[in-house]
Amino acid sequence: MAFLIYNTCMLMVLLSSSVTSFAFPGFSFGWGGGGGAGDGSFGGGDGSFGGVLGYSGLFPEFYSFSCPQANDIVMSVLEDVIAKDPRMAASLLRLHFHDCFVQGCDASVLLDDSAMFTSEKNAGPNANSIRGFEVIDEIKSKLEEACPETVSCADILALAARGSTVLSGGPNWELPLGRRDATQANFKESNNNLPPPNSTIQNLITLFRRQGLDEVDLVSLSGAHTIGMARCTSFKQRLYNQDGNNQPDSTLERTYSNGLKEICPKTGGDSNISPLDFSSPARFDNTYFKLIMWGKGLLTSDQVLLNGNVEETMFLVKAFAEDDSLFYDQFARSMVKMGNINPLTGFNGEIRKNCRMVNQL
Ligand code: HEM
Repeated sequence: MAFLIYNTCMLMVLLSSSVTSFAFPGFSFGWGGGGGAGDGSFGGGDGSFGGVLGYSGLFPEFYSFSCPQANDIVMSVLEDVIAKDPRMAASLLRLHFHDCFVQGCDASVLLDDSAMFTSEKNAGPNANSIRGFEVIDEIKSKLEEACPETVSCADILALAARGSTVLSGGPNWELPLGRRDATQANFKESNNNLPPPNSTIQNLITLFRRQGLDEVDLVSLSGAHTIGMARCTSFKQRLYNQDGNNQPDSTLERTYSNGLKEICPKTGGDSNISPLDFSSPARFDNTYFKLIMWGKGLLTSDQVLLNGNVEETMFLVKAFAEDDSLFYDQFARSMVKMGNINPLTGFNGEIRKNCRMVNQL
């Protein structure tokens, strides 16, 4: 009975917020959530707008006068690139996530090694894994031609993440813009803030909360794993020795597990790749959640959303598996929230000319 009441309440919260906020997800006035993400909600319970909980300073029309064609330029590059390599959509979506969770959405992830800092590209979650830098370079050089020193690399990442979602068949949303670029990378924070694939549910909740994101954001944003691939090394433990007792993960469905073993043998093959959503790896849909319901989530971090004994995430996986528009709507809103994490605005940061290095003095 208690569970039924809980479920009904959860669904009402999701549905009511989805109806009231869908028209302008970019402005994100008035849907709840934490402070770190600067989600634009009315802050602090005092009815004030802004403050610690509030306004990120970003807005969708930021380039309306200075570079009105910015999004068209991004989309035309993405269309070509994704037509040739559909996985690139996934890689670009992930790049924005790996940017925002480290020092905020400031394009720090794009910086190469320099005398001043160690690049984030070599941190554990990124090394031999994140891709898409040359696509960002191509977009940046076209934008520099059209509107020199105007569109930040951090906004390019946000635009590319949204465009990639749309071109894969997923939702669209109004995207707040106006981020500026960091002049420092943060190798240590990349290792500390990005969740590993064998995370427990508590671990995931903690790392998302650190960014001002809640359990709804955790589950909906994990739905990004509806596209793209993972290396064998990211899920091998589940196949052979999940808990240190030489047994596979009991929550992993047997036939799926056997298939994975062919791609990911006990020794070697660490760089072999497998789709995160094997039934539609290049299509943004809600199959990811259906697969989790069938014990076919690829990463531990995927499957624990259902099997981690946290009622709220369990409920959300089921709700998103049953209703793709509920998932799309929430994904869009959580992407806006993630994109609002600690942006540099005003006189902070810079507009890099080359996304791989800070501007010369
Ligand atoms: C919830 C915690 C998360 C964990 C533990 C996690 C972990 C991972 C891992 C281990 C991979 C495979 C990397 C490899 O083997 O090379 C991956 C891929 C991916 N992740 Fe996540 N991720 C999480 C959340 C997210 C979020 C929030 C997004 C975006 C909103 C995202 C988007 C992606 C995409 C699209 C891919 C495929 C990339 C490609 O094919 O190049 N992930 N993730």
